Amino acid sequence: MAYVIGVDCGTSGTKTVLFDENGKVIASKTIEYPMYQPKNGYAEQDPADWANAMINTIKAVMSQSGVSKEDVKGVGISGQMHGLVMLDKDGNVLRKSIIWCDQRTAKEVEEMNEKLGEKKLIEITANPALTGWTAAKILWVKNNEPEIYEKCAHILLPKDYLRYILTGEFATEVSDASGMQLLNVPNRCWSDEVLSALEIDKSLLGKVYESCEVTGEVTAEMAELTGLKAGTIVVGGAGDNAAAAVGTGVVEDGKAFTTIGTSGVVFAHTSNISIDPKGRVHTCCAAVPNSWHVMGVTQGAGLSLKWFRDNFCNAEKETASLMGVDEYYLMDKEAETVPVGANRLLYLPYLMGERTPHLDPDARGVFFGLSAMHTKKDMLRAVLEGVSYSLRDCVEVFREMDINVSDMMACGGGGTSPLWRSMLADLYNCPVKTVESKEGPALGVALLATVGAGIYSSVPEACKAVIKTDKTQEPIAENVPEYEKYYQLYREIYPALKESYKKLGAL
Ligand code: XUL
Repeated sequence: MAYVIGVDCGTSGTKTVLFDENGKVIASKTIEYPMYQPKNGYAEQDPADWANAMINTIKAVMSQSGVSKEDVKGVGISGQMHGLVMLDKDGNVLRKSIIWCDQRTAKEVEEMNEKLGEKKLIEITANPALTGWTAAKILWVKNNEPEIYEKCAHILLPKDYLRYILTGEFATEVSDASGMQLLNVPNRCWSDEVLSALEIDKSLLGKVYESCEVTGEVTAEMAELTGLKAGTIVVGGAGDNAAAAVGTGVVEDGKAFTTIGTSGVVFAHTSNISIDPKGRVHTCCAAVPNSWHVMGVTQGAGLSLKWFRDNFCNAEKETASLMGVDEYYLMDKEAETVPVGANRLLYLPYLMGERTPHLDPDARGVFFGLSAMHTKKDMLRAVLEGVSYSLRDCVEVFREMDINVSDMMACGGGGTSPLWRSMLADLYNCPVKTVESKEGPALGVALLATVGAGIYSSVPEACKAVIKTDKTQEPIAENVPEYEKYYQLYREIYPALKESYKKLGAL
């Protein structure tokens, strides 16, 4: 039997899973790390935390499983997109990584629009200038920390930094590179035009591969530290969303998924490039050669629930630990006791600004309609519903673009919640399915590794062999019109607050 490893460098932790060639989980290990928020709207992580987590999780799955290192045929790496890692000429990290949900770059976004023109940027990079994407972060460091920029010899995305640690190679692949806003997305290569307009030296960037191509091999030093065999291949891998698409079998037209991790994403595969002229959803290269995907992103999805848990749910945490169950499971059970609409309480999940559909770094979270009758349970349900409304916003944009979302899968931590899945089915008014494997991005990149290692001949073939549909949640007929009323009201709240958010940001 052949085995492969998928590493997923997420925002809350890095998860490594060892799979057999049929996609069965043999061993899994997650190590968590902090996110630093030195200012309101800032978000950073330490690349050393990611590297240590990767090394120790690989080591753990290798030793737990007892699988011989000779039988591990390849490694795939997935990760949070858009983060900026800067290294000096000796490969040392120059500053903490400014990650995807950081919103400090409003000025740099203006600078990009001035230098390239909004239309040109969309034409080349398939997306408008975005505060969370890597190009704006690079300009921010250039403008605000010139002494660091001067020393910078390599620019990498989070998972590509892990590739560098594992193999010594400076490389990336098309799906994640699309989120740097330096890639010509239709042509799947770096854009000389964008790089020269922004005065970013191309030599700072890694070589671009397709996601299933071999990009390097595990070094002898890393083999020693992880228990892998030196020379094990490492494939391109993918940004976490493109990886989740492979891990849920969303590799053909008509297929879509919703994932609720720290962020929430609605994602659809397309074999023809499709761009929203208003820039409300992103278009990126898919992890399948010659295809693309569109995705709507809500910044604070699982993050909203985690924020609520960490600040208000100590009792649930204690009870869950006494009962030996997951605290989110208990929170779900509490929210289930509250009716649709949370007793007329709405929540806007804009804790870290918002992307789809508002593209507003100044937006912030809101509870709307709080009354003295409300309890923590109502607020909890409102959080779950508010995230679902914001995901419905993404689906609305897809529908405007004529993108079919009738074959919808659910994944990510939030996708394991039956209540959340049922809210999505009711709000999208279509069945929401899950796949048997819960490993989404880690499975996706492990499958890319099977292709790189020659176990399967293509990504769709690997998916066909491994991915199996599990549960289907149908919409509940009486909930659909009820949620619709709340959703329509939800849509009115952001426009009413737009100007006030600006003022709040300027205080
Ligand atoms: C996608 C995005 C997030 C991150 C974090 O554009 O920013 O989904 O990849 O997981």
